[in-house]
Amino acid sequence: MEQIRVKIGHTANKIDQMVVNQLAAEVVAAKRTLLEGTGAGNDFLGWVNLPEEIDSTMLAQLKADVARLSAKSQVLVVIGIGGSYLGARMVIEALQSEFAMAQRGGKPFVVYAGHTLGEDYYSQLLKFLDNEDYSVAVISKSGTTTEPAVAFRIVKAHLEQKYGKAEAASRIVAITDAAKGALHGIAVKEGYPMYVIPDNVGGRFSVLTPVGLLPIAMAGYDVDRLLAGARDMRKVCIASDSLEENPALMYAAVRNALYRNGVKVEMMVSALPSLRYMAEWWKQLYGESEGKEHKGLLPHSLSITTDLHSMGQYVQEGERLMMETFVKVKSPKCRVPVPSDEENLDGINYLVSKTLTEINDCATEGTIEAHVAGGVPVVEIEVEQVDEYTLGQLIYFFEFACGVSGYTLGVNPFDQPGVEAYKKNMFRLLGKPGF
Ligand code: PA5
Repeated sequence: MEQIRVKIGHTANKIDQMVVNQLAAEVVAAKRTLLEGTGAGNDFLGWVNLPEEIDSTMLAQLKADVARLSAKSQVLVVIGIGGSYLGARMVIEALQSEFAMAQRGGKPFVVYAGHTLGEDYYSQLLKFLDNEDYSVAVISKSGTTTEPAVAFRIVKAHLEQKYGKAEAASRIVAITDAAKGALHGIAVKEGYPMYVIPDNVGGRFSVLTPVGLLPIAMAGYDVDRLLAGARDMRKVCIASDSLEENPALMYAAVRNALYRNGVKVEMMVSALPSLRYMAEWWKQLYGESEGKEHKGLLPHSLSITTDLHSMGQYVQEGERLMMETFVKVKSPKCRVPVPSDEENLDGINYLVSKTLTEINDCATEGTIEAHVAGGVPVVEIEVEQVDEYTLGQLIYFFEFACGVSGYTLGVNPFDQPGVEAYKKNMFRLLGKPGF
């Protein structure tokens, strides 16, 4: 297995090897707490063994449903919010063409709903769906979240009007709790095929359950390779207590060391626009897992070089409160030459002998050099390429590191009590009975 590499050579201006060594003992203890299930939130550790314990009957059924729905759908509407859509979107956007919508590659194009209450968004979505053959995956672990519930009501009404109730029901798949929640009740009553999110897997750790696997498979990607990558990374994360051999322990140690040395913000940085939803998924994973008891690094993200022309000034010379975690991909999927131009009016003929990747890599290295010189510690996470296998590795790597990091920080990484506050206010303002 080509392993993910975590490099910490550019953190020395904030922490030295000694600090990381001190943290080593703590992350190894946190790892033990996680694997022995003796820490807070230990009823939500189902994700640890998911790649090994995936139910093959469920997976075969999922693939059969995907084949059935794909045969009659140009579009799949994924309805979900937070952990109920970000993992799938991360994988799909990392793998598909940026112009997949226009290209129509034969597989359903995935669009999203339930992650917003923007009225214009739904008006535009319904107009778009008027002209598309589509199916719906409605995903909610609790089955009671307002945003996806509202979206499902709107889209279901459109679907039933377009195809009639019986055909609409055959175009809907529900992914929810085994027994509880309104969505479960609706799915049973309407007879939708249903997939279960295990009780012991929290939303933001659920991408390797049907929550992520069904939309990813619908988009035409190989979920077996995704699971294989996660399985191989799980072995690495579990086997070794050495920071040099275990990238998840190294990452957990270094980010906690930097936090203790005054760093408040961690920016995930990538030079590939296709990884922007990896940053969105990672923000939820780390923000919801660690941001409690007034503790935790604030997860933020930069897409370079795009954001260097908006945020670059702040990172270089603003308040010194951040670290950066670069996700670096070594091999691009395709090559695009920079054409030669006899007149050279734009002055860029010196780039003609280089690939765009070489130019992008120089921009990345130049950025790291500048930010480190400006006092920003940089961690680098390197993968060979972006495919289902490496994405599976990255998913498990970030999840495992998150559990270890949260325990090292001293919080319960598996709850999210703070998410309820806005809901109570919203319900009161909306006049929901009982609020
Ligand atoms: O991590 C979590 O559990 C949450 O952020 C959920 O993913 C999010 O609130 C959506 O919840 P549900 O799947 O119950 O609709």
